[in-house]
Amino acid sequence: MNKVAVVTGAAGGMGRAIVAQLLGDGFRVVGLDIDEAGLMDMATDGFLGIKTDMTDPASIGRAFADIADGHGGIDALVNNAGTCFMSEFPDIPEDEFEKQMALNFSGAFHCCQAAIKLMQGRPGVRKIVNISSNGAYNFDAFDPPHYRASKAALDTLTKDLARRYATEKIAVNSIAPAMTETPLFNVVSKEVLAEAISQMPHGRAMQPSEIAAWVGFLISPAGDVSSGNVIILNQGRDVR
Ligand SMILES: NC(=O)c1ccc[n+]([C@@H]2O[C@H](COP(=O)([O-])OP(=O)(O)OC[C@H]3O[C@@H](n4cnc5c(N)ncnc54)[C@H](O)[C@@H]3O)[C@@H](O)[C@H]2O)c1
Repeated sequence: MNKVAVVTGAAGGMGRAIVAQLLGDGFRVVGLDIDEAGLMDMATDGFLGIKTDMTDPASIGRAFADIADGHGGIDALVNNAGTCFMSEFPDIPEDEFEKQMALNFSGAFHCCQAAIKLMQGRPGVRKIVNISSNGAYNFDAFDPPHYRASKAALDTLTKDLARRYATEKIAVNSIAPAMTETPLFNVVSKEVLAEAISQMPHGRAMQPSEIAAWVGFLISPAGDVSSGNVIILNQGRDVR
């Protein structure tokens, strides 16, 4: 029986690469995204897309109820959905702040609540991988404070759940990438983007497949002994 992995933000740049990685690794993959057309465009054997709004707990609840009905359980969850709203502090509109936290943090929190219940009784070490950001740690880059804070909250959730579920063999880690070439690059101007990419030691942005390979590694048996870690992927940019 194939294992089941759930990937949020599946139709985005990083999400598509993670889905491809996990399908290649033999998982049945359920992709959650608000972009229904994007999910339909990904149709392939072993993949099921469910339109889900990560800012709406009821929508998340319905998606996981469908997963329980269709698959019976979950072996891995990748909390990847997220965006970076760019208003400057202190003039960040209240609704932008709330949406930033809801999408990047609360949605992942609710997915963990639902997924952990569906991981009970599954064999082996079950996995949660939270896609954080280097922006929570590097204060030279352009990231705004509500984005940084949403990812820092996510990484604290990673550590809490890692500790809480260690003896139940549910491993929880964060991957915190720096500049990775996806549609998210469109949130900044060409000048800001060029400056940020020029600071990458390899002289180029990272590719989504390079991040997805690390997700695949953590979810593979080789990753069984890692839990509670925030793995920074940035070509060594911030080593001082
Ligand atoms: N690209 C980078 O340089 C970079 C760096 C660090 C961290 N990240 C993180 O990687 C993750 C993936 O980002 P990406 O670069 O692939 O961006 P992306 O914009 O390509 O993908 C984001 C996906 O999230 C989906 N989404 C947006 N709002 C949603 C909602 N309310 N409900 C459900 N889905 C929703 C979008 O439809 C899209 O498919 C994010 O959490 C982001 O913060 C990206």
